[in-house]
Amino acid sequence: MNLKPVYTADDIQAFMVSNLAEVLGTTPEEIDVQEHLENYGLDSAQAMIIISKLENLLGFKPSPVLLWHYPTIAALSQRLSEEVPGKSQVKDAANGTVSTINIAPPFLDLGAEAVLDPTIQPVGTATISLSNPKNIFLTGGTGYLGAFIIKELLAETQATIYCLVRAADITEGKSKLVKNLQQYAIWDDNYNSRIIPVVGDLALPLLGISTEQFENLAANIDTIYHSGALLNYVYPYSALKTANVLGTQEVLRLACKTKVKPVHYVSSVAVFESTSYAGKVVKEQDDFHDWQGIFLGYSQTKWVAEKLVKIASDRGLPVTIHRPPLIAGDSKTGICNTHDFINLMIKGCLQMGYFPDVDYMLDMSPVDYVSKAVVYLSRQEISIGKAFHLQHPQPASLKSLVEWIRTFGFSLEMISYEQWQTELINNVTSQENPLYTLRPFLLERWSDEQITIPDLYLQARRPIISCEETIEALKGSSIVCPPIDSQLLITYTSYLMQTGFLSLA
Ligand SMILES: NC(=O)c1ccc[n+]([C@@H]2O[C@H](COP(=O)([O-])OP(=O)(O)OC[C@H]3O[C@@H](n4cnc5c(N)ncnc54)[C@H](OP(=O)(O)O)[C@@H]3O)[C@@H](O)[C@H]2O)c1
Repeated sequence: MNLKPVYTADDIQAFMVSNLAEVLGTTPEEIDVQEHLENYGLDSAQAMIIISKLENLLGFKPSPVLLWHYPTIAALSQRLSEEVPGKSQVKDAANGTVSTINIAPPFLDLGAEAVLDPTIQPVGTATISLSNPKNIFLTGGTGYLGAFIIKELLAETQATIYCLVRAADITEGKSKLVKNLQQYAIWDDNYNSRIIPVVGDLALPLLGISTEQFENLAANIDTIYHSGALLNYVYPYSALKTANVLGTQEVLRLACKTKVKPVHYVSSVAVFESTSYAGKVVKEQDDFHDWQGIFLGYSQTKWVAEKLVKIASDRGLPVTIHRPPLIAGDSKTGICNTHDFINLMIKGCLQMGYFPDVDYMLDMSPVDYVSKAVVYLSRQEISIGKAFHLQHPQPASLKSLVEWIRTFGFSLEMISYEQWQTELINNVTSQENPLYTLRPFLLERWSDEQITIPDLYLQARRPIISCEETIEALKGSSIVCPPIDSQLLITYTSYLMQTGFLSLA
């Protein structure tokens, strides 16, 4: 073991300043240690140069998410200096390998984050019938679930759908929406006049739209579907907060302004990720006040955002809350989001040749079930104020999925989770494997127990999400969650092979 000298925060700061100045072609005097590093406009190659020099100096590889928690040179240097002595010095002289050090993020009190602007108060009462809105405002229409919600709203209502889109202008916004709907085989020219882009951004005040347009929407929209969010399993809370938490606050502001508009919010079963729910049955209307032990930044934002929706509901805003598990492909066509966690995991593990042998029930529901349920439930008066679990009523085990993949001729070995993590560290070293970018999520260790996030999803540590009330509420419809059986898995695998996402070669 090659013990490195101990560096102070000032040493590390001076080192970073001089290297950043060199990479940017400027002088150290021009570098402000309190400036957010992202404001220096480093491209990924430049960032890599600095990180690898830092790694050489310290003798360990700092956690990739560290920059999000400590975004300035001053904060980062201070934090790194606390990690340098003793246990952190893990560069192995014999083989030159460098271990990743996992550094605890700053303490985050999620309870204190769940504060809704007191000026957001519903004005008057909702006068429009829930089942037949004329004008709908929808977020997330360029995403996966949003596309399928649009499909259902077009089929089940006569409404015009105003979709919040991040784009340079209306033309680009419309083309993003059309392209997304085409990608999921949803687009039909007849829908053209019913889909209206609203250029904006969840992460900005008033959703990034002008005050005049915001007021116009507030006066003319009848109901809101909020499906937009930044899904990222690597970024911490601080990086996702503006879009997911503050964006939800702005949606609630719109809902309360000028006239009351019901909000149908797409949350997640992740709101029950606190360790205090482990092994317990959680029902739809159960409180979700515990947040301690939710480690994933994305899940933290979903917890806080749903709390904001709950506060608005307590202030009198009509809301419905929909908590999907992982969202799988369309049960009829197999069409899916190939960038989602399940697909990246399958592809990445096939590339590795190994799957982790873990006790894990596949927590997934087909997207057509989720979208149909959201739209049906949101249109029932009796749903107001309630939450729904779109959990699969009979989940399958991960092992059965692996067995299934093998029957298609894919070669895949099950190895212990620890061995699999070692494989991931040693052999997944470039972006050619989709698991590469998920490594912080799969490997980073948290809490006193030093467990990884996937450890938290092992069966024994998860809550049992009950969906009984949701199934009861769907009884008046023909909506049933398709079983995870060979028929469904054939549909999924065939689609992934036809599109070339998976191949036997
Ligand atoms: N997928 C799952 O397995 C899953 C599971 C449980 C819950 N959910 C929830 O379901 C909802 C939809 O998820 P999804 O799978 O459809 O995700 P997705 O495919 O990644 O779509 C996310 C949508 O949100 C939009 N968005 C992100 N940041 C935005 C911003 N700053 N301003 C405006 N729009 C923004 C995206 O727009 P761009 O096109 O501009 O990026 C996109 O339209 C989310 O609320 C998610 O938390 C998903």
